[in-house]
Amino acid sequence: MKYTLITGASSGIGKALSYQFASRGQNLIITARRQDELHRLREDIEEKYAVQVIAEPCDLAQEGQAENLYHQLADYDLSVLINNAGFGDFSMPWDMDLTKATRMLDLNIKALTTLSLLYTRDYADREATLINVASVGGYSVFDIAVTYCATKFFVAAFTEGLAQNLQDQGKKMRAKVIAPGPTQSEFVARSSDNGGINGDGLFAEDSFITADTLANYTWQLYDSDSTVAIVNADRRLMLKSPVYPYIRVPH
Ligand SMILES: NC(=O)c1ccc[n+]([C@@H]2O[C@H](COP(=O)([O-])OP(=O)(O)OC[C@H]3O[C@@H](n4cnc5c(N)ncnc54)[C@H](OP(=O)(O)O)[C@@H]3O)[C@@H](O)[C@H]2O)c1
Repeated sequence: MKYTLITGASSGIGKALSYQFASRGQNLIITARRQDELHRLREDIEEKYAVQVIAEPCDLAQEGQAENLYHQLADYDLSVLINNAGFGDFSMPWDMDLTKATRMLDLNIKALTTLSLLYTRDYADREATLINVASVGGYSVFDIAVTYCATKFFVAAFTEGLAQNLQDQGKKMRAKVIAPGPTQSEFVARSSDNGGINGDGLFAEDSFITADTLANYTWQLYDSDSTVAIVNADRRLMLKSPVYPYIRVPH
């Protein structure tokens, strides 16, 4: 039996991705910290769709937890891994809470890289797809979220590079990156919880898409031959080739 592993499934985009992939007949392994939310989601999805859902609570920002989670799931065939868990922070660099900043690096970069590399090691020669969730802030720096954007530059550049490594070597596994723009979720509230800049009024109401639309865009990326999907200012999906320069060094 094959499974799609989705991180950050307890709310927002990850929750919508869980419904989207289940509606396409994929069994799920869902993870996040909030156990109750995961269990409610599991029950609801299993009631609606003929798929199996496994809930694995985990704090991915804790040292060693991403690796532990991956090893706990060693017996499952993970045909898709979606690294979606992440958070932001709206504040100027000199006002930033250092604890929040380092947790952001631990989750947005370290946990995502650990899971991606372990997955690539095991699945490079199999029919498998890695989808990493970056941001439009992974392709442009926004002044109110420089540190967050830099974490997403990492996600975008790392995933694009990995995708090209896999293609160059004729590997079966695919790696893809989705870059959402403003999307309805808990993201803005969590990015504003630092007393820095309140994000409530930052974006026009009509600049947001729903998490369900973003999940549908992610399925379109999954179903395509494209490596990159960016949600543009018109809230439309743009399927693209890699954006970052990629230089092949003789070796
Ligand atoms: N919404 C946007 O406008 C937007 C735009 C661009 C990119 N993104 C990206 O989209 C992704 C999903 O965010 P979202 O918008 O859906 O926000 P969200 O509603 O806040 O969801 C974030 C998810 O990550 C999980 N998470 C947070 N800290 C975690 C930790 N330490 N360990 C494990 N899981 C953790 C949360 O669950 P628990 O709290 O239960 O752990 C939640 O399920 C993020 O990578 C975000 O950067 C969002």
